[in-house]
Amino acid sequence: MVNTKVTLSGLELDNPVIPASGTFGFGYEFAELYDINILGSFSFKGTTKEPRFGNPTPRIAECPMGMINSVGLQNPGIDKVISEELPKLKKCFNKKVIANISGFSVDEYSYCAERIDKEEQVGIIEINVSCPNVHNGGMAFGTSAENVAKVTKAVKEVTTKPVYIKLSPNVTDIVSIAKACEENGADGISMINTLLGMRIDLKTKKPVIANKMGGFSGTAILPVALRMVYQVYEAVNIPIIGMGGVSTAEDVIEMMLAGATAVQVGAANLVEPFACKNIIENLPKVMEKYKIDDLKSIIGGAH
Ligand code: SIN
Repeated sequence: MVNTKVTLSGLELDNPVIPASGTFGFGYEFAELYDINILGSFSFKGTTKEPRFGNPTPRIAECPMGMINSVGLQNPGIDKVISEELPKLKKCFNKKVIANISGFSVDEYSYCAERIDKEEQVGIIEINVSCPNVHNGGMAFGTSAENVAKVTKAVKEVTTKPVYIKLSPNVTDIVSIAKACEENGADGISMINTLLGMRIDLKTKKPVIANKMGGFSGTAILPVALRMVYQVYEAVNIPIIGMGGVSTAEDVIEMMLAGATAVQVGAANLVEPFACKNIIENLPKVMEKYKIDDLKSIIGGAH
């Protein structure tokens, strides 16, 4: 019998598999398909202070081995998330959830983080400084060590729960950004968000996506994510939730060998709604195949 349990900042998870923010809604939609209590946890849709309608359509473009999205942080706003989404989720998910928070100013990040910190079902607050689809927000904070430091410090001042900063791969030196998070009190790092990309329609000769560009995710980005997790693991002492192109139990193990303590699964949920369930069911078999008794023991094993 293998051991799939991992621990993130004191929060014990039955397994390291966590659906990534933006690919699993607020959970209850997927609970109609399977018992989502098998998940390690899940990260809910990026939430902002005000409700957001999101970007104009088309905002999805298909690609070989992936997709581009430019959703634009569509969400009902923090008030409704607390008053409507979390109570619905509580009925079908009895574990702690990861609250993904986004914003357009340092004050907005700390306002939302302070509000969500009081919610009993929230186990970890994930600060999204890496959305590439909004102007003057999201990624604008995550591509500068100085800005990421300000957001991290402000959020830590008003919260009691572990704070993980979700980083953008669209930077020259992700290690310096991760270090700025750690130095300013972050409890962990989530990485990576999507890679800025675009597609052009040959018939119209114009960008496919109304917003022209969007975030590229899917199996094609796994090697980039692994490289970045590997680099950051060598530079910081806080846990990493690895993500980017993960779609199989083998990918989960590879991500953990690079240095991740837990692993988020994103675009794969949009291709196959049972992706996380399949990964969780396969994980013990793949562990046995590679002679891994305890998943914790392989974290950073490739170094
Ligand atoms: C979006 O809502 O545009 C995607 C969220 C993200 O990339 O962080």
